[in-house]
Amino acid sequence: MRIIKCKDYNEVSEVAAKIVAAQITVKPNCVLGLPTGSTPVKMYKNLIKMYNRGEISFKEVITFNLDEYYPISRDNEQSYFYFMHDTFFNYIDINREKNVNILNGEADNVQEECRRYEEAISKAGGIDLQVLGIGQNGHIGFNEPADYLESNTHVTALTQSTIKANSRFFNDIEDVPKQALTTGIWTILKSKKIIILASGKAKAKAVKELLSGKITTQNPSTMLNVHNDVTLIVDEEALE
Ligand code: GLP
Repeated sequence: MRIIKCKDYNEVSEVAAKIVAAQITVKPNCVLGLPTGSTPVKMYKNLIKMYNRGEISFKEVITFNLDEYYPISRDNEQSYFYFMHDTFFNYIDINREKNVNILNGEADNVQEECRRYEEAISKAGGIDLQVLGIGQNGHIGFNEPADYLESNTHVTALTQSTIKANSRFFNDIEDVPKQALTTGIWTILKSKKIIILASGKAKAKAVKELLSGKITTQNPSTMLNVHNDVTLIVDEEALE
């Protein structure tokens, strides 16, 4: 695993945006895997700036988001569908109808939705660059620590610690959905390149485990140690 040590969150966000922009430059019709959470927000802001300066275009870019709460409606401000449009897609020239893919948090048949999503990623040719955040407990997407991890896109129960961590975005902890749809460990590992962003003290423990080189289902990010093109972009606080 390559490690890019950054001073702070701003630098993590700059480095990550540059890597995404470089991917789009070498392959304008690339497939990006995208995360939510607070960590990638500034990376998205930087990419919007680059777009506004005419340095990159998302016209042909295809995106697949990692995960979505379940159940949740797309117009709920806490849905990842809403977040991605409000933070990023509404400000760039991406084809929102055709090229943006986000798991449907309102699907009646979740198994079918997960199967469809996995197939759509394959049909698009697989993910060229997967951008990841990391949960405080080491989750990636919504692949939570467990005795067994799922390979493919699936419905999952959120752990109490993730419900608590994510409750900061909701009015009340009771409003946090208890389940989510998420791409699986193999869906993520099939990506050609992966970058993982970590910033702040709260991530230090998970990052330490990731960098130990040991693999455990109790910290799903450690599965990234079997991939041959992963770059961790991390700031000083998350490295302590
Ligand atoms: C959420 C998302 C993850 C994200 C994680 C970290 O639970 N499902 O994909 O990486 O939170 O979020 P943050 O960057 O806000 O710490």
